[in-house]
Amino acid sequence: TRRVRTRDLLAAKQRGDRWAMLTSYDQYTAGIFDAAGIPVLLVGDSAANNVFGYETTVPVTADELLPLVRAVVRATKTALIVGDLPFGSYEEGPTQALRTAVRFMKEGGCHAVKLEGGRRVSGQISALTGAGIPVMAHIGFTPQSEHAFGGYRVQGRGDRAAEELVADARAVAEAGAFAVVLEMVPGEVATQITKELSIPTVGIGAGPDTDAQVMVWQDMAGLRTGKAPRFVKHYADLATVLGEATRRFADEVRGGEFPAAEHTFS
Ligand code: KIV
Ligand code: NA
Repeated sequence: TRRVRTRDLLAAKQRGDRWAMLTSYDQYTAGIFDAAGIPVLLVGDSAANNVFGYETTVPVTADELLPLVRAVVRATKTALIVGDLPFGSYEEGPTQALRTAVRFMKEGGCHAVKLEGGRRVSGQISALTGAGIPVMAHIGFTPQSEHAFGGYRVQGRGDRAAEELVADARAVAEAGAFAVVLEMVPGEVATQITKELSIPTVGIGAGPDTDAQVMVWQDMAGLRTGKAPRFVKHYADLATVLGEATRRFADEVRGGEFPAAEHTFS
């Protein structure tokens, strides 16, 4: 077995084969997702929320994300690992973007990077792809700009906004991105972009027609509870499973049932 390559994802689109992508931030989930055949894992800056407990993705830094990238790379054999460039690490321009992306490739050991934005970051995407770094773009609702958007809101609604979104999709493909995430956009607009672009589209809240779908793993597995966005589906109830295991462990310790003879050295 070998690692998935970006050209495998282009070939999948040409064949009409769909694929699933998940976030991962640690060795156990990375190993499980890799063994389950997930071809692309994203060490998302959503670690800000899902690992570090920040309220938004704005505060998380490259220094915080890089150890997670290394862990996910070490724990996987076949998945292509994408490292997410955090807010503030690429906006200044191509030089800053290249400096950060090189850190992700060298120190993190990932195989591609992702950054947020369309036309406004096409210079950065060109610089990275020109330097041999595969880039996944991310347009539509981009969480690093949530303060500018005024919260989690669908983007690309209405003729004018849809045209802007299509222009962003064209720009990132033209700049050399190997794939583009479409987050929280109307399904019809995602369908149109998916048909038009030769690179794969990866949807999250973008309807059923994108070439791939991405979900935050804690959402997919039901570890994160509470009010979920419309695009989340729980495929397990890990929060309940883990809560019950924890209560049983604590009960057995309190009751003197654990440890038993078989857990004890003589
Ligand atoms: O950081 C993240 O989890 C993401 C995906 C949801 C695309 O950017
Ligand atoms: Na992200």
